[in-house]
Amino acid sequence: MIQHNLNLQTEWFQAIIHSIHDGVLVIDRDEIVRLINPEYTRITGVKPEMIIGKPLREVRPGAQLVETLKDGQTRVGIYRREGSTEYVVDMAPIHIDGQIIGAVSICKGLTEVHKLARELAKNKEKLLQLEKTVDSLYRAKYSFAQIVGADQGLKEVVHIAKKAADSHLPVLITGESGTGKELFAQAIHNASKRADRPFIPVNCAAIPASLLESELFGYEEGSFTNAKKGGKTGLFEIAHGGTIFLDEIAELPYDLQAKLLRVLQERSIRKVGEVREREIDVRVIAATNRDLQHLVEKNRFREDLYYRLHVLTIRIPSLRERRGDIPELVTAFLSASADRGQPAWTMEEEALHALKQYHWPGNIRELKNTVDYGVCMAESAEVRLHDLPDYIISAAREAPRILSHDARPTLREVVDDAERTWISETLAQFGNDLEDRKKAAQTLGISLATLYNKMKRYNLGGSHYSK
Ligand SMILES: Nc1ncnc2c1ncn2[C@@H]1O[C@H](COP(=O)(O)OP(=O)(O)OP(=O)(O)O)[C@@H](O)[C@H]1O
Ligand SMILES: [Mg+2]
Repeated sequence: MIQHNLNLQTEWFQAIIHSIHDGVLVIDRDEIVRLINPEYTRITGVKPEMIIGKPLREVRPGAQLVETLKDGQTRVGIYRREGSTEYVVDMAPIHIDGQIIGAVSICKGLTEVHKLARELAKNKEKLLQLEKTVDSLYRAKYSFAQIVGADQGLKEVVHIAKKAADSHLPVLITGESGTGKELFAQAIHNASKRADRPFIPVNCAAIPASLLESELFGYEEGSFTNAKKGGKTGLFEIAHGGTIFLDEIAELPYDLQAKLLRVLQERSIRKVGEVREREIDVRVIAATNRDLQHLVEKNRFREDLYYRLHVLTIRIPSLRERRGDIPELVTAFLSASADRGQPAWTMEEEALHALKQYHWPGNIRELKNTVDYGVCMAESAEVRLHDLPDYIISAAREAPRILSHDARPTLREVVDDAERTWISETLAQFGNDLEDRKKAAQTLGISLATLYNKMKRYNLGGSHYSK
């Protein structure tokens, strides 16, 4: 009975040792090999009949397990090589009642580890390639050298923007539509230390509010129904090391404003559905054509975020405020539209004069589109007055002489000009839908009908220029 139990136990232990995924070799106190398992054979190539019952010193000269038997010391991570097979060995004495009765060595093959390491290196290489692709996809193309204009106001703005490029502080760029806010943001990025990292433009007004959070911060797998497998990388994460350009920041929903403030203060982000925060190194440049302070007063924009963003503010003057730059800008746009190898286009003096009269609600973008239109319509290499859009020609004809400097304007003309400028600037603070128009009328202290009448009279409204 006792003998039967003993046999059963031995079988039991042998089965366990055979099923272990590491190689096992056991010697007794006389250094005789008593047991090896199949994994030991697989790793070392040594078969049971070659080794069992034989002194370890004879069959495996140099084996350190005999030392373990002598000194009772455990040995960990000893590197061995058998032909092309590499493995590491842990060795330990076997004690019974305080006596060393043998020693065991456990071998782990390194081939698998090497395979995994090679795979890891391959994937790392792939990741690096992908990062480079992302960087090249998200390149900012404009630099300060491409900003045209000699106006003193603009020069001061460029000076501040160049200083901003050297700093890591957030930047707020304000200015009417088409004044070059994105151009400045790109130039700042390109002149900064982050130039070879991504520049990620995000239009906060173009992404539905419900999607904006996961677009910006990403999400964890399974954080909501329809969440993609593997989760989503947010734009902040893609911009790591570079710059994120948050265009139309005034449209950022109130709750996300708090999250953005956290990014600016703590330099960390949290994905949707994720508990932990991850550190992030992203420079934030925000832009708006709205009056943020006004929105703060109306509790539509968080005051704390406003002050955080307001540190370095760059206000780009409207084209109306720097009409002196119009000829230089026109020349730049004319030469940009010349075919390669062809001489640059020119513009008739009268046409240029009309452009100088116009009030440019769409600023430089509108001027560029107008020049492109003129080039398209021109019969020769010179753009003439009648090649320009009708509304420009008629607006120039009706323009108060205050702008043309060829006669002293009447009081009526001065008042009209001031009225038109003020309405145009107020309209630029709001959007283009009915609600926005109502707000603009309210701000101006006139009825909606009067606003529409004046917009018609002054040819305002911005519907005739496009991006
Ligand atoms: N100073 C400048 N010199 C040359 N080109 C300019 C200048 N400013 C703006 N532009 C050009 O005008 C166009 C509009 O510029 P940009 O998109 O940067 O304006 P924006 O202020 O971001 O407009 P929006 O508020 O509508 O988004 C672009 O084609 C840009 O290259
Ligand atoms: Mg823009």
